[in-house]
Amino acid sequence: MIWKKVLLIVSMIFLLSGCSQFNALVDKLPFTANDSSNSNQEKQDESQVNDPLSLEAIFFNDIKEVDGKNVIQNSTNVMALVNKEFHLPEEYIPDDLVRPDVAFSFKEVNIEKSLMRREAAEALEKMFTNAAENGIELYAVSGYRSYSRQQSLFEAEINRVGIEKAEQAVAIPGASEHQSGLAMDISSRSNKLYLNEAFADTTEGKWLKENAHRFGFILRYPKEKRDITNYVYEPWHFRYVGVKAATIMYEHNWTLEEYFNEVKKM
Ligand code: DAL
Ligand code: ZN
Repeated sequence: MIWKKVLLIVSMIFLLSGCSQFNALVDKLPFTANDSSNSNQEKQDESQVNDPLSLEAIFFNDIKEVDGKNVIQNSTNVMALVNKEFHLPEEYIPDDLVRPDVAFSFKEVNIEKSLMRREAAEALEKMFTNAAENGIELYAVSGYRSYSRQQSLFEAEINRVGIEKAEQAVAIPGASEHQSGLAMDISSRSNKLYLNEAFADTTEGKWLKENAHRFGFILRYPKEKRDITNYVYEPWHFRYVGVKAATIMYEHNWTLEEYFNEVKKM
């Protein structure tokens, strides 16, 4: 009887100590059912998440051809690529437009051009606050524009300078980032609140060029990228895309068009 008890105790000790050794062995086998394939998958996912040049598919344009135009179907995407090639639907009006709490170049309160989408408006507030802390006084000049307002501006520009020049400076209705509620034109008192090339040489214009990405904004139409953006240099036009993407574009000196050519769809 005593031998049976001793045998039982010895085999329990063996089983308990052997378990961890067995598990350690299992961990090393490549094709066991010990979820080692799952953890590899997780690592792959992690590395993709950590790869700054990967971007989830939801952030790419979803396009449908309508009357010969490439019309964006996921217009609320904060990374929407809106340009001469990809247009917003005529009826698109963002449903989260708010007035950012920043200084404006005009007095009117209830006016369309003071609006931005909530996320972009909050980022703009942070940017203006940080600018002020650094002695930089910025003024918001023009934010959201409806399709019909863009149409009026485009027609006015055609009357002023002719169609060829107008197309280089003002987007045709549907092709403007201002309709997305994610863009803001910015100026300064030092530039008499004008939106012109001279803004690039002001302290405020220089500060924005070097710091906007920290708040998720990109200088959308750089001087040396006219062949890519198909618009003239606009040192005043800033587009919200989020901090991560804006920082990558800033570091690589990429436009939004170049960024989408470089990133991998996840
Ligand atoms: N000036 C820019 C291109 C616009 O009209 O949206
Ligand atoms: Zn603009």
